[in-house]
Amino acid sequence: MKMNQRTWNTTELSMNTIMPTQLMVAMNLSCQMYTYRGVPLIKNPFDFALYHLLLWNLKPRTILEIGSFSGGSAAWMGDLLNTYGIDGHVYSVDLNPVTWIQHPRVTFLGGNAQQLEATFHDAGLRSLPRPWLVIDDADHSYASTAAIMKFFHPYLDAGDYLLVEDGLSHGGVVKAIQEFWVQHQTDYEIDSDYCDFYGYNMTCLVNGFLRKLTPAAYGQSQSAPNSQAFVL
Ligand SMILES: C[S@@+](CC[C@H](N)C(=O)[O-])C[C@H]1O[C@@H](n2cnc3c(N)ncnc32)[C@H](O)[C@@H]1O
Repeated sequence: MKMNQRTWNTTELSMNTIMPTQLMVAMNLSCQMYTYRGVPLIKNPFDFALYHLLLWNLKPRTILEIGSFSGGSAAWMGDLLNTYGIDGHVYSVDLNPVTWIQHPRVTFLGGNAQQLEATFHDAGLRSLPRPWLVIDDADHSYASTAAIMKFFHPYLDAGDYLLVEDGLSHGGVVKAIQEFWVQHQTDYEIDSDYCDFYGYNMTCLVNGFLRKLTPAAYGQSQSAPNSQAFVL
């Protein structure tokens, strides 16, 4: 669905409508308290379920998560890859890289959302198997959101997904998506199958499930399939 066909609220079944404020506050607090295999994982129940659906449907070979926090979401997605029989790998980046979790399908990296070229080598990134699922779950500022979208755009191929977390509560995220959309109107669609699964934009990823429609737009340099993907 085109961005200009969508509003930014959650009108039909907004979280505020179906839940009293106290319950909303409790749920937000609960999300901060939730753990997966004993490790904090910050997702509300709706998005937790939507990620399950998306991983099964997309079967990503590469997941690039910006914003690891405690590593719970990366470890959970690594487990889901195993559960679903997907031969994929999660690369999770944070200013404070996770060192306390080892998972065969997860690599934790240090890096800054606003300087991702310092974390990912161009040729190595291009060699990662498709389809990709890129997740922006960093600081939810305008600057970081815009930088992440801009960085990954040329690498994303048709069918890959770019998920932008937390437009529900961060105006900077909404502004960044809107600006990105103006620049790339024909390159992406908003996948309403996920955004609206539980009701219109009933997700923290308000208009934030973007599916790439056009091929990756690499420069002329050739990829080096076996090169090191990351600056370590
Ligand atoms: C919302 S938490 C990530 C939650 C995690 N993905 C989950 O679902 O449990 C945001 C994380 O982004 C990291 N972060 C903040 N600004 C960043 C930046 N500029 N670059 C990389 N990571 C950043 C923080 O250190 C924090 O761990």
